[in-house]
Amino acid sequence: MSKPVKTIVIVGAGTMGSGIALTAAQSGIRAVQIDVNAAQLEKARGYHTKQIARLVEKQKMTADDAAATAARLEYAADFTAFKDAECVVEAASENPEVKKKLFRSFAETFAADALLATNTSSISITDIATAAGARASQVIGMHFFNPVPVMKLVEVIRGLATSDETVTRTLDLARTMGKTPVLANDRAGFVSNRVLMPLINEAFYAWMEGVAKPEDIDQIMVLGCNFPMGPLRLADFIGLDVCHDIMMVLYRELGDPKFFPCPMLRQLVTAGRLGNKTNLGVFEYPPRV
Ligand code: 3HC
Repeated sequence: MSKPVKTIVIVGAGTMGSGIALTAAQSGIRAVQIDVNAAQLEKARGYHTKQIARLVEKQKMTADDAAATAARLEYAADFTAFKDAECVVEAASENPEVKKKLFRSFAETFAADALLATNTSSISITDIATAAGARASQVIGMHFFNPVPVMKLVEVIRGLATSDETVTRTLDLARTMGKTPVLANDRAGFVSNRVLMPLINEAFYAWMEGVAKPEDIDQIMVLGCNFPMGPLRLADFIGLDVCHDIMMVLYRELGDPKFFPCPMLRQLVTAGRLGNKTNLGVFEYPPRV
């Protein structure tokens, strides 16, 4: 067993970041949730409190474990006060410049043997690692899936400069968090989104071409292929803007027009219909209380 991760810093308190923090805390790791946006940080805290209470309610967690899990969660606006953490996971917006700026700062802040992980869903790890300069060997992709506490996979992606030790320690960390890590190489979209996004895109084309109504496209895939949710509902769940951006990375990096987002998807994104988070995407969702 490699050097264990006792403290993990998660930068970005959105859906993915807050899920990663909760999962880490549940598995016994001190989890520091970082976001410059105070409202976002409060939202993450609310999500954690609610999820922990639900687990107790469902008798999946004892009251003592709930208290210990809550005590392992911390919230802050700035990560520089946590420079002794053995691991930082970046879960900020899917923008290469935002990520590179963070990794420049991670390289200056954290220890020479800390894991510098990114939860990017499609951006090149090798590219992000260039921002870490001499610390590029510590940079790795740790791609979690939504909802993080439920989904078993962590896609682990090594960049060109990632060291074997960084890979081994990341695999150990994912297992400690109760996940099954699977390695993928550093190509746009890795495996998961390279395969998933064309499927989602094709569902949009089927809708646009009138092959079936959206609810029927989904039902066919749920009942006929045993998908837990249909591809259009899944796109809403991921966020139509996120799907669009991932497809654009795939299209640009792999150069194949099959990855170019369907006009129907582009139109919904332009209209601000982004899926569950805006209560309207392909389908309509009741506002969450
Ligand atoms: N946080 C924590 N737990 C959650 C949760 C959340 N956000 N959402 C659901 N759960 C838990 C519920 O509490 C419930 O737990 P229980 O079995 O202990 O009671 C369990 O998950 C099942 O939830 P529900 O009964 O409410 O609903 P479903 O049975 O319909 O499951 C689902 C919901 C797990 C979301 C299921 O529909 C599913 O697996 N959908 C597909 C999800 C998927 O494909 N995710 C990957 C997206 S791609 C991605 O993330 C990569 C990125 O790069 C794009």
